[in-house]
Amino acid sequence: MEKEQAIKEVLSEMIVTIDGPAGSGKSTTASLLAARLGLRYLDTGAMYRGVTYAMLREGLDPESEESAARIAASISLELKDEEGRSALYLDGVNVEREIRSSEVSRFVSPVSRHGSVRREMVKIQRSIARAGGIVAEGRDTGSVVFPFAHTKVFLVADAEARARRRQGQLESMGVSESIDDIRENINKRDKIDSSREHSPLTRPPGSILVDTSDLTIVQQVETIEKAVLDVASKLASLRVWPGERNDFEHLALHYGLTLFIVRVFCRLFFRLKIYGKRNLRYREHFIFASNHTSYADPPIVSCGLNLEVAFLAKKELFRNRLFGGFISQYKAIPIDRGEIGRRTLKLIISKLESSESVLMFPEGTRSKTGELGTFKGGIGFLSLHTGTTIVPVFIRGSNELWDCFLRRKRLELHIGPPIRLPVDYESEDKKLDYRLLNQMVFETLRMMKDESED
Ligand code: DC
Repeated sequence: MEKEQAIKEVLSEMIVTIDGPAGSGKSTTASLLAARLGLRYLDTGAMYRGVTYAMLREGLDPESEESAARIAASISLELKDEEGRSALYLDGVNVEREIRSSEVSRFVSPVSRHGSVRREMVKIQRSIARAGGIVAEGRDTGSVVFPFAHTKVFLVADAEARARRRQGQLESMGVSESIDDIRENINKRDKIDSSREHSPLTRPPGSILVDTSDLTIVQQVETIEKAVLDVASKLASLRVWPGERNDFEHLALHYGLTLFIVRVFCRLFFRLKIYGKRNLRYREHFIFASNHTSYADPPIVSCGLNLEVAFLAKKELFRNRLFGGFISQYKAIPIDRGEIGRRTLKLIISKLESSESVLMFPEGTRSKTGELGTFKGGIGFLSLHTGTTIVPVFIRGSNELWDCFLRRKRLELHIGPPIRLPVDYESEDKKLDYRLLNQMVFETLRMMKDESED
């Protein structure tokens, strides 16, 4: 495919996120950027404002999680493009002006702090962005809503610049407010937004940091546009286009044959269905992060991916020389009781550095119920340290193979969207980034689990 055409196609599927504190210039930047790139614009803050407005209108207490949850679940929110500007519709009525009032601004942080409101909004935001081709803007769009976004931007600006901008924005809407009041409101909101328990404002790992204090809007947009086009161009050359070969998919004969047999077996006896193979069409090796519900997961995941992947297996499994030899052929790496020691870690790193894919189960142990357990970590470190892209994989039904066999259930493998760090990403706080990356993988798996239930 022609390079230009390839970039265009990638761009039309891209998700760009712009996060940052109030008044850092997100809205203007995001909507201008979307217009320039021909993408849609998603103003997530407007949705939290919509819930807040609906609550105030009914005289409800914004601090009450119960009322907020009820309102969030009962109203309909829609974002429409009106003459190049985004407008929020609440139950079919345009409330764009109302949601920008200082009263809504005052109460929006307490409302958006409620976990149940966030879950509801995130669901809507993801459904709006399902087909890609979007610039989303908010506080948690790169970390929680779209951890797999292709380009992430984090905007910052000093408090004075932000207050001045907000004043200008309000004036253009015919609302006048003193700079002191605006500054106070911004500071207060910053504090709540950054310290709340659910999805606090944080710079997502892999994001581009842009300080907008001394930049004009045009400079801001141009800087980000260039970054997005760079990513689109890189992705276009990484992508395996129809008719092209991908060397990363090469399988040794015995490996390919075994995967084929396992796949046919799983299809026949457990009605295995594989979703999301398109997420693998890149010339790249991966860290696959899968939930874990059965000992059968490594062969099931590998046959679904149809790739050679190294995986971790308990040391005891190698005691029987014959079996140990057999699984070694399939790239099993011995580990001590679910713990990854220094030696194992080094081994995994060396595999990743020589472009081999590795399958990991970040929960560390099997979940018999199929619920997602907490992550032990490790994935974030490995990805950041080696620059390897993470692909979340959600497996359903491997703990209920008997039900699958009896055709009461189905074995499902969902291959998720890649979580890719930019090649030149320099982390400012590695420990924080490891943790955030783990959370991002967890969040994506949770999304995949929820969506596979719908
Ligand atoms: O961007 P804004 O000022 O319109 O956002 C209004 C409020 O909504 C902000 O104080 C925090 C909240 N918000 C959020 O919690 N998460 C988002 N993704 C976007 C906004």
